[in-house]
Amino acid sequence: MTVQAASAHAATPENVAALIDKVIEDNPMHRNFVTRALANVTAAELAHLDAYIDFCKQKGLTIDYLAECYLTIVGDTLREQIYFQKHKKYRYSTFAEIGDSVYFNEEYMSFYMYGLAITSYLWPNHLDLFRFFRETLPAAKTGKYLEIGPGHGYFFMTAMEESKFDTFTGVDISETSIAQTRALIDHFGADKNSFDLLCMDFLKTDLPENGFDAVVMGEVLEHVEQPELFLKQIARLANKDAHIFVSTCINAPAVDHIYLFNNPEELAKMFDACGLRIKSQLIRPYEGKTEEESLAQLLPINVAYVLEKK
Ligand SMILES: C[S@@+](CC[C@H](N)C(=O)[O-])C[C@H]1O[C@@H](n2cnc3c(N)ncnc32)[C@H](O)[C@@H]1O
Repeated sequence: MTVQAASAHAATPENVAALIDKVIEDNPMHRNFVTRALANVTAAELAHLDAYIDFCKQKGLTIDYLAECYLTIVGDTLREQIYFQKHKKYRYSTFAEIGDSVYFNEEYMSFYMYGLAITSYLWPNHLDLFRFFRETLPAAKTGKYLEIGPGHGYFFMTAMEESKFDTFTGVDISETSIAQTRALIDHFGADKNSFDLLCMDFLKTDLPENGFDAVVMGEVLEHVEQPELFLKQIARLANKDAHIFVSTCINAPAVDHIYLFNNPEELAKMFDACGLRIKSQLIRPYEGKTEEESLAQLLPINVAYVLEKK
């Protein structure tokens, strides 16, 4: 372990320490952010992140590559935030504008998904969402689990490891996401469960009505033109007492965010209109700001909900 990572966290595991050192070496301006962030990650979470980096290394990916993945998201997000503050809107608003450059561009999508998985631990807002997901996942519930847009696969794999659902279905429009999710499951060997991964547009699936006991959709609503169609489809596929988890963001630009939510009330109204009711929620304002300040200054707010069918 090098001096930099050791000073950030007394017990930083080797892979995490190496990644942090490389991130700071490549982008010294990020040192304070990442050092503070690391201090907020528990030892158990650090061990999980270390195991994730180990999985990547076993796939032949280097620490240098992973640092580049992570810093690509950091840089892209910063650029989009500057655009958003200036124009008060996301740069793109249609799937046609971003599909080929993001979801169907294997090189970029690989960067993006490995980087995003790492932010689940290194960005305090994403870590809070991930903790909320784990805390609210009904560990003892059985039946059928469906996830829309598993992306890097980390939530999907966590659900397989930490719940007793009998079958797990993932639907993602990107082949790169499906491949990353499959590789993660293979590596972590959740072989006791049966799983199925479908590479297609969720709106074009013919999954069974009332067929799922859990439906999870993390960070997808802001990526689609008509989020209400996704929510209506979720309400249709979920069982009466299904666990429904949805996360998204408000005023949070990214290269592929095309639907802008302006405040939590808009989301609450949309859930209601789509046949869903909020059971519990996490409203995560911008670091160091209140919800009101974040809204007034158009700063990103992350939100996650546990919903039920009305
Ligand atoms: C930002 S990633 C979310 C990854 C992960 N769920 C998370 O919470 O970090 C969004 C994922 O949604 C997928 N996606 C976007 N539009 C989709 C659609 N119409 N049907 C299925 N998946 C879609 C993308 O390919 C990508 O893998």
